[in-house]
Amino acid sequence: MHFDVATLDGNLCYKLMTSLVVPRPIAWLVTNNGVGGQNAAPFSFFNCFSGNPPVLCIGIGRPVDRRKDSLANIERDREFVVNMVSEELAQAMNLTATDFPPDWNELALAGLETAPSVKISVPRIAASPAAFECRLREIMPVAQDSGNVIVVADVVAIHARDEAIINVERCHVDGSKLGIVGRMQSPGRYTRVHDTFEMRQATFGQWQAANPQVGKPD
Ligand SMILES: Cc1cc2nc3c(=O)[nH]c(=O)nc-3n(C[C@H](O)[C@H](O)[C@H](O)COP(=O)(O)O)c2cc1C
Repeated sequence: MHFDVATLDGNLCYKLMTSLVVPRPIAWLVTNNGVGGQNAAPFSFFNCFSGNPPVLCIGIGRPVDRRKDSLANIERDREFVVNMVSEELAQAMNLTATDFPPDWNELALAGLETAPSVKISVPRIAASPAAFECRLREIMPVAQDSGNVIVVADVVAIHARDEAIINVERCHVDGSKLGIVGRMQSPGRYTRVHDTFEMRQATFGQWQAANPQVGKPD
């Protein structure tokens, strides 16, 4: 099946993108709300785009009638925490996706405890299996006629659940101990990541040594 983006309705295009680019990790953003509390909301247009230096990007949409609280808070304070979501935290994460008014503390509503961050003033979600303290690098508009933006941020500190760290010096992580979930087709479908498999990547030299009979393709 072929879909021409030039003639496709915008909502349908969104549906295809979110149904076909799966699974997506979920950035559970915590920001300060400007009146002494915190705001929390999930965003699955999210990934890591550089490991060294560590850089994360998040796509935030703009509903016709309002600017999302997370974006307003990031623009004002230029800092936030990205918390990863485990299966035990999924219901709480989902509650924080509700469009509560900006001064409603969603972490308190969801019964979530916070822990202080090390480098920024925004706290992290204590029970989250991994969290990234972030400082805003830039906000890139996606297009002139849409309010959608891409938030680019530098990670300034990284937290991970103790039992998931196999070797601290080498930063070896046991992913199965994190229990992180991903977003699948909208609305409301998620995945666990228990069913993994292993495959090592070879260099050209290693590949040649293993395949001496194979020459350069025409
Ligand atoms: C799992 C999940 C992923 C989401 N991903 C995004 C996203 O990538 N971009 C976005 O703009 N909204 C996304 N949303 C919707 C926002 O979480 C929702 O609009 C929320 O109310 C924004 O909260 P805020 O106004 O407090 O920032 C997602 C919702 C869920 C449940």
